[in-house]
This record gives sequence, C-alpha cells and structure tokens, in this order.
Amino acid sequence: MANPEIERRRTFAIVAHPDAGKTSLTEKFLLFGGQIQVAGAVKSNKIKKTATSDWMDIEKQRGISVTTSVMEFDYQGYKVNILDTPGHQDFAEDTYRTLTAVDSVIIVVDGAKGVETQTRKLMEVCRMRRTPVIIFVNKMDREAKDPFDLMDELEEELAIRVRPLTWPIESGPRFKGVYNLYEHNLNLFQPSKQVVTEKVEVDIATPELDARIGPALADKLRGELELIEGVYAEFDVQEYLKGEVAPVFFGSALNNFGVEELLNTFVRIAPSPRPVQAEERTVLPDEPRFTGFIFKITANIDPNHRSCVAFCKVCSGRFTRNAPYYHVRHDKTMRFSSPTQFMAQRKTTVDEAWAGDIIGLPDNGTFKIGDTLTEGEHLHFRGLPSFSPEMFKYIENADPMKQKQLAKGIDQLMDEGVAQLFVNQFNGRKIIGTVGQLQFEVIQYRLEHEYNARCRWEPVSLYKACWIESDDAAELEAFKKRKYQYMAKDREGRDVFLADSGYVLQMAQMDFKNIRFHFTSEF
Ligand code: G4P
Repeated sequence: MANPEIERRRTFAIVAHPDAGKTSLTEKFLLFGGQIQVAGAVKSNKIKKTATSDWMDIEKQRGISVTTSVMEFDYQGYKVNILDTPGHQDFAEDTYRTLTAVDSVIIVVDGAKGVETQTRKLMEVCRMRRTPVIIFVNKMDREAKDPFDLMDELEEELAIRVRPLTWPIESGPRFKGVYNLYEHNLNLFQPSKQVVTEKVEVDIATPELDARIGPALADKLRGELELIEGVYAEFDVQEYLKGEVAPVFFGSALNNFGVEELLNTFVRIAPSPRPVQAEERTVLPDEPRFTGFIFKITANIDPNHRSCVAFCKVCSGRFTRNAPYYHVRHDKTMRFSSPTQFMAQRKTTVDEAWAGDIIGLPDNGTFKIGDTLTEGEHLHFRGLPSFSPEMFKYIENADPMKQKQLAKGIDQLMDEGVAQLFVNQFNGRKIIGTVGQLQFEVIQYRLEHEYNARCRWEPVSLYKACWIESDDAAELEAFKKRKYQYMAKDREGRDVFLADSGYVLQMAQMDFKNIRFHFTSEF
C-alpha cells in the first residue's frame, strides 16, 4: 500500500539559463504556497534580501546565487519541495548534483531568446536520468518568437518531444493571454504582479471568442488550435513520467500570468518520490526503513555559526529526529538532534521527514557528497558523478605558517564538492579543477574567511582530466609510463590522465585501445 505522506510529495527543481526568470517563477510559487505575502519579496538572484539562498557573503558581493537552498510549502494537499539552484553557470556542477535529488524539473525558457546554452546542458542531465520535465515559456509580455517556431526549437535543441498545454495569443504589447488546451478556457492577460487573472470559459467556436479578443485574432487562434491538435499527439501523462514528452506552458512570471495553471498541473501530474538506485539494489520510497544520501554541503548558512549543513535527500521511509542512523562510509551510528527543514525565509527543526523531503543536517566535517545514511543496511547510492573539470590551476600556499589550515580547508571544501583536487604524480603538486573561473575565487575567499589560510593560484595549461582504467594491466602500466608527467590521482586514489590538448587526448585514445577514458568519475 502506497504511503499517502510520500504520495503527496513533489520534489523538484526550477532550472534555467540565467535571466530567463527562474527567480520570478519561484517567487510566484511561494506566493501561491502562502510562504510570502507580496510579490517582490524574493528579489531577483542579484539581491535576494529575504530568500534563504542569500547565505554567503560572497554571494552578496558578487551578486550571484551561489548556494542551493530548499523551499517547501503545502499546496492543495500536496507537499511541494522546491530545490533552488545557483543562478550562475560557473556553479553548474552544483546544479547537476541538485538534479540527482529531484523527482522532476521545470525548465524556464525566455520566449524571446529560446533555448540557450545552459538550458541545453541542464536538459542533457535530465535526459541522462530520465527526469520528467515541464517547460515554461516565460516573458510573453515581451515580443517573443513565433510559438510554433519555439516548439520546433525546443524539440530539436532539447531533444525531447513537446506538447503545448497552453497556447499564447500574440506576445509583447499585443499579448492577449493564453488558451488552455486541456481545460478549454481562455485566460486573459492583464499585467499585474499581484492579481491572479480570472479565467473565462469560452467555447472557441462561438462569437464570444471574437468579442473577447477581436475577430482577426479569434480566427487565427482557431486555426492554430486546429493545427496543434493535428500536429501533436494527445498529451499522455505516462510519456511525461518516462521523460519522453515535455508539456509546455506559456506565461509571464513577472506578471504572475500562467503560473497558477502551471502549478496546478504540476502538482497533479508530477511524480511523487521515485525509486532510487543504490549499488546494491533499487530502493523504493515507501519501504518502511529510512535511507538517504547527502547531495550537497553548504557552509555558513547562518553567518553567526560557522558550521556546515549537509543536505540529505530522504530516499525511503521516515526520518526521525534523534533516532540512531548508520553512516555507511564511517561505519558508525549517529543521531541528529537538530535536523532542519527550510521554509522560504527561515529554517526550523523538524521531528520527522518522509521520502522525498530534504533535510539539513548540521555537519562539522563528518559528511562528504554521496554519503549514505540507513537504519543499518550497507547501501551506497549511485548517481552523484563528478564531471571532468574544464579549468585547472595549481594551488600553492601563500602563508608558510598556515600549512595545516590550508590543507584542512582544501580537504573540507573538496568534501563539499566545491571543486576537484588532483595530485600530479610527477611533481607532487596539487591541481584544482573547476567548471568556472568563479570557483577559484570562491575557494580563495573561503579559505581565507573560514580557515584562516591563504592560497595562491599558478597557471597550468590543461585541456581535460579523465579517469582511466583497463583490464590490460600491462597496457595501463605502459600508458602511465609514457605519460608520467601527466598522471595524477584523484582523492579516492584513482588514476587520472591530465590531457593538455584535445589532440593529445585523441592520440592517446587511438594509441591505447585497451584503455577506457572516462569523463565522469562514475563508470
Ligand atoms: P533568473 O532567476 O532566471 O536569473 O531570472 P529572474 O527571475 O531574476 O529574472 C531576470 C529578469 O527578467 C528580471 O529583470 C526579471 O524582472 C525579468 N523577468 C522575469 N520574468 C519576466 C516576465 O515574465 N516578463 C518580463 N518582462 N520580465 C521578466 P531585472 O531587470 O534583471 O531585475 P528586476 O530589477 O526586475 O528585479
């Protein structure tokens, strides 16, 4: 028997290319969820005065949302958990990791810009994990692309079949509203940040439609709706749940238009917590025993307390405060006296949490990304790969008196998954690999402010780091010998080849056919 507590949970992330409107949409959801009273309370991710994601000094300084936060609320009997993701693409890895903890995703696309680089990458991760996706085309109050062209673009660029569930009537200054294709009603646009527009039931065959939006637009809409029904198959929830088709909504997050339809449909069709794959077996959400994994560690949530918070996704059963849980990697039992859950603007201690929920566990170095907690079972959750970094620098100690602090700082920051550390086997130097320039600055800043250590960066020209393995021990040895200057170990002691150019990597792949080159740490 399915557990109703778990069935009613909807754990998801809103993702977008920066500036598409993720923050605005999140804010409107919180408004519907009663978590905030007025629009504008959650500022764009440049200055989130009240949003819980405004945690780090550096975030305020640099004007980006660095950390991941969780927002939760009850809506129409559902428990909605929104996982916020960093607004800056240098923190893409953080976002990818967050996607391992969600059961579905809403992708926001700017109607004028269409699919942008970051949208494409995020969709790739969703596709890899077969995460169900809903698309929200935003900013229809501005001049947007032709909706049919947009549909084709989404389908082609995101490599997923799409199915419009609402349809826009013009855009920009001429924007009249959207027609709801499954409820068959018209939602007329009236720019407002606060008011939710009234819906009008209109039979599109009748002259009432002409009266509402004018005869020319009425005819156009009738034609377009006919075309849609002809081109797109009936929306099938099962296909959506399998990640094969993405329903599409149009609206304007800023004007709170089309958002309620999106949210209402979302809670109805989005999946409740899904089974999670562990190395040993598949874990079902309604199993009676608690299991969970750490997908994110954040420092300085509360600037008055320097401790970290480890975010744990509950995969099955019920988590109870103060109950003994088994930390598989440390092989030890732990109790958590102050687990937290997150509201829009505050966090509170919770006594219990169910599969699908995210809980914050106070952490002073006990957790690493990917750690598993159980009621005693030896389980290891998979699916938290590190991706091959794209930027590399040598990290050097800039204060000889603080060697220990630096080592500890680097160690803990790597546990948090801020970046990846490789040790060159030839010269013993430490190399930090990231996906964006900004992470180097974050590391330097945090080492100084949290660990009282100073580092210096030195350039190293590398193209990619890839994990290598082979069943042919002799060939592996030969490779390592040939490339000895470019061989490194990751923190788990695995062999990593640091290729200094795409050409070198290609040649290596050709010359050593029995060696497998991996671009994520999970293989
Ligand atoms: P992000 O989190 O995806 O980066 O996007 P965010 O919501 O911060 O929105 C980026 C910009 O786009 C903001 O403007 C926001 O007001 C605007 N925006 C969001 N949704 C809509 C919409 O439906 N219509 C229009 N016309 N604009 C929209 P900004 O000038 O950068 O910030 P702000 O000064 O308005 O806060």
